Amino acid sequence: MPVIGFIGTGNMGGALARAAARSETKAELLLANRTREKAERLAGEIGGTVTDDVTAAEQSDWLFLGVKPHMMAEMIASIRPALDAREKKPAAVSMAAGTDLARLRELLGERVPVIRIMPNIAAAVGEGVTLWTPGEGVTEEQKAAFREMMGASGMLSEVDEHLMDAAAGETGCGTAYACLFMEALADGAVACGVPRKQAVEYAAQTLRGAARLLLETGDHPGALKDAVCSPGGSTIQGVRALEKSAFRSAVMEAVIAAYEKKF
Ligand SMILES: NC(=O)c1ccc[n+]([C@@H]2O[C@H](COP(=O)([O-])OP(=O)(O)OC[C@H]3O[C@@H](n4cnc5c(N)ncnc54)[C@H](OP(=O)(O)O)[C@@H]3O)[C@@H](O)[C@H]2O)c1
Repeated sequence: MPVIGFIGTGNMGGALARAAARSETKAELLLANRTREKAERLAGEIGGTVTDDVTAAEQSDWLFLGVKPHMMAEMIASIRPALDAREKKPAAVSMAAGTDLARLRELLGERVPVIRIMPNIAAAVGEGVTLWTPGEGVTEEQKAAFREMMGASGMLSEVDEHLMDAAAGETGCGTAYACLFMEALADGAVACGVPRKQAVEYAAQTLRGAARLLLETGDHPGALKDAVCSPGGSTIQGVRALEKSAFRSAVMEAVIAAYEKKF
C-alpha cells in the first residue's frame, strides 16, 4: 500500500488530501502541518496519521508539498537531509503557484521526480480542475498512479509547463471570482426581497447549472447566453447593465492580474 504524505494541510493541501482519501488508491495517509491541530482535525475527518515534516519525507512514497510558495525553499531545506538519505526517493507533487519544475529540482535534488500541479479548491468535493506537468524522471507508472490517486479530485489535465502559470489565474484563482459573483448575485436577489439563505443557494445552483450545460453541450458560452436572452426580455437588460459596468473586462483583468503576480 503506498504511503502518501502531505506537508502543509491548509486549504489546498487539505482539499487534495480529502480527494486522495476518496480515491481508488488504497493508501496510508501521513499528514504534517506547522500548526499540528489543523492536521489533527483533518485526520479526524478523513483518517490518516498525523506526523512531522521530516517523518513524512522519510516514509512517504508520494510527498505533496502544500505550503505557501514563499515558504517552499525553507520547508524543503528542512526535509532535504531526510530525502538525500533515502535510497529510493519519493515522488514529490508541488502545488505552489509560480514555482517551476527547474526550481523544484534545484530545491529537492535531481533524483527526486516531481510533478507540478495547479489545482483548485473544489478538489475537496470532487469538482476541481487540476493542471499537471510531470518533470524529468517521472515514469509512466508514476503518471498512472498519480492519475488514479487524484482521480477523485475532479478534472485532470496534463499540460505543457508554460501553460501552467497562464491558466492558473483562471483555474486556481477562478473559484474566488466565481464566489464573488455568486455573492453579488445573491446580494442583488436580497435587495429584491429574497431571503439570504435561499438567495445564496439559488446563486450557487444557477452557476452549477450553467457550468453543466456548458460542459455537457459543448456549446460556446455566448450561444448559451443568447438562448437565455429573449428579444425584448429582462435578461438582455441585465446583460446591458453588466456591459455598462465593463463586466467581462473586469473578469479578464482579474485573470491577467493573477497571472502577472510575481512570487
Ligand atoms: N488556495 C487555493 O485555492 C490554491 C489554488 C492553487 C494552488 N494553491 C497553492 O497551494 C499552496 C497552499 O496554499 P493554501 O491556500 O492552501 O495556503 P494555506 O491554507 O495557508 O496552507 C498552507 C499550510 O502550510 C502550513 N505550513 C506552513 N509552513 C509549514 C511547514 N514548514 N511545514 C508544514 N506545514 C507548514 C500552514 O500551517 P499553519 O496552519 O501553521 O498556517 C498551512 O496550513 C500554495 O503553494 C498555493 O500556491 C492554492
